[in-house]
Amino acid sequence: MNKGDVAVIKPARNISGGLRLPGDKSISHRYAMLAALAEGETRLTNFSSGADCNSTLECLRQLGVTVLRESDDVTLIKGAAGRLRGSAEPLDCGNSGSTMRMLAGVLAAQEFDSKLVGDASLSRRPMARVIAPLEQMGARVIATDGGRPPLEVKGAGKKLRAIDYTMPVASAQVKSAILLAGLFAPGQTSVEEPLRTRDHTELALRAFGAEIRRARNRTTIAGRQNLHAISARVPGDISSAAFFLCATAMFPDSNLVLDDLLLNPTRAAVLDVLMGMGARISVIDLNEYHGELAGTVRIGGGELRGATISGAQSAALIDELPVLAAIAPYTREGIQIEDARELRVKESDRIRGVAENLRAMGAEVHELEDGLRVPGGQQLRGANINSFGDHRIAMAFAVAALRAEGETRIAGAECVSISFPEFFDMLEGVAER
Ligand code: S3P
Repeated sequence: MNKGDVAVIKPARNISGGLRLPGDKSISHRYAMLAALAEGETRLTNFSSGADCNSTLECLRQLGVTVLRESDDVTLIKGAAGRLRGSAEPLDCGNSGSTMRMLAGVLAAQEFDSKLVGDASLSRRPMARVIAPLEQMGARVIATDGGRPPLEVKGAGKKLRAIDYTMPVASAQVKSAILLAGLFAPGQTSVEEPLRTRDHTELALRAFGAEIRRARNRTTIAGRQNLHAISARVPGDISSAAFFLCATAMFPDSNLVLDDLLLNPTRAAVLDVLMGMGARISVIDLNEYHGELAGTVRIGGGELRGATISGAQSAALIDELPVLAAIAPYTREGIQIEDARELRVKESDRIRGVAENLRAMGAEVHELEDGLRVPGGQQLRGANINSFGDHRIAMAFAVAALRAEGETRIAGAECVSISFPEFFDMLEGVAER
């Protein structure tokens, strides 16, 4: 798709079929970064096809790492064994907060200085949360006055110190940045999170041979450990799957099978919520690869009841909340989302974006400071939707459009390529008309 493209979504009768999704975005970023730091050549299959993970690969290349796309399905990364090379040019993180925040951790530990830049959306996102711990570790990180990108990271090199840090915001990206910097620091670096966030960095560090300990919400890593290359398949992205899971859940006679899907418990809350609302879900087989669970999921829809999502559950579902809110009108009792203020500082203000688009489709919706209340029992009508340049908003409303009356047009739909370039083709493949 090209910039400014409009996606036209016609209503569907049902969803059925089978899909295998591109590799998980969160895991792809982490495997790429650890592979770059490891000794030896890492071989990854089903690496995320999204532009965000490509931003990570491009930044790593600029830091002197060899990255080869051996075929469509195989990515090879030749590790620099901890010896990255500084880049004279700024490192372009594109739209990717994960790239900028996690790479800032790696760069904070280096002997050289770096500059991290991003697109207009990323340039509005808060970075103080990652700057504070990295400065405590001895790096200097300069942002704009409001703590926004670009970031100039002055590496601490030999002056890097281990810290014991309690994070004020629950963020897997910040936790990861600290652990990645801690890998280079002498002594033990600990990070305590207020709520449990995704644990892919911890699992990936173990897979690459590092020792890392976890007790409750506190994770500790010893510095100066060597990493070793791995060969791994990245399981299908469950946050991308969420769009298909929600689309299927809305149609009572639907049936969809998703193969090789990531089922890490810190990521799979969307299955619990949909099941709690009345969707029929079964996990047919479950395997573990490098500490990550993956399996085949079968889902069928039902008369969805509705849900209240708050506290730790909101944090666990942070990337899935837009699509859950978008299907809420089709539930019986509606969906209320609380404690999700973080949604306002994602790729767009997702609370406002969801509310505006639901209203455009004729729904009643109440915007809360930290969430949304969407009453159930409402029929949406096709409308002109604004993606706000945000991939998850575009995909959430493509799903809502499947049960609307009339056609929906999504402006700026090309942004789906940030995480899921194949989205519209795959949606057409399973939508029965
Ligand atoms: C991610 C963590 C989450 C999530 C983002 C990816 C990650 O952000 O919203 O899409 O890969 O660690 P925060 O860590 O800022 O909550």
